[in-house]
Order: sequence, then structure tokens, then C-alpha cells
Amino acid sequence: MTAITFIAHDGTRYEIDAPDGSSAMENAIRNDVPGIDADCGGACACATCHVYVDERFLEVIAPMEAMEEDMLDFAIDVKPASRLSCQIRIRPDLAGMTLQVPARQA
Ligand code: FES
Repeated sequence: MTAITFIAHDGTRYEIDAPDGSSAMENAIRNDVPGIDADCGGACACATCHVYVDERFLEVIAPMEAMEEDMLDFAIDVKPASRLSCQIRIRPDLAGMTLQVPARQA
């Protein structure tokens, strides 16, 4: 298990012990984090799992593949720290990572 935190648009923190190997999105859904709808179920085909990654971890998580980059074009308020949470695989070295849900996604 690896401790990560989602921060909802209203500042509510969801501190989660996430199973290693799961996706960040799966943990958001299991814990009812508002604003993470994951309409495509993690197939990188909807962008409704968009988050802003804690800058300290941007270089630690696996780099973005072309499909995720293309899909992010459909997300709202994209920033340099934007990622699709279904493409973030939980690993022990992500302990302490925070993921902010964009305000307009809620
Ligand atoms: S759940 Fe659809 S792109 Fe992540």
C-alpha cells in the first residue's frame, strides 16, 4: 500500500492507502472523490479523470504516452502538471503524492 492524497475542488482531502499496481483513478473511484468520473473505465478515452500532479512527483511518475497526451487535449483547464489519473500506476516511491482535482471538473 502507498499513501496518496486527492484534494477535491473545495479543498477536502482524501487520504488513501492505495494498493501498489492499481491506478490512481481506481482509488479515487473507490473513495468517492468528487470530480473523478472516469467515464471510460480507465481506457484513456474520456479525460474525466484529469488531475494536477504534485510537482515533486511529476518526474517520478511514468512519463506520458502519446495516447494520454492526445486525450488531455479534451480536458478542461490543462496545466503543465496535468495528467490522467487512470494512467498513473501506484508504486511505493509515490508515497506522499497529492493529486488535485481541477475546479471546473467537479
Ligand atoms: S478514466 Fe477515462 S481517460 Fe482516464
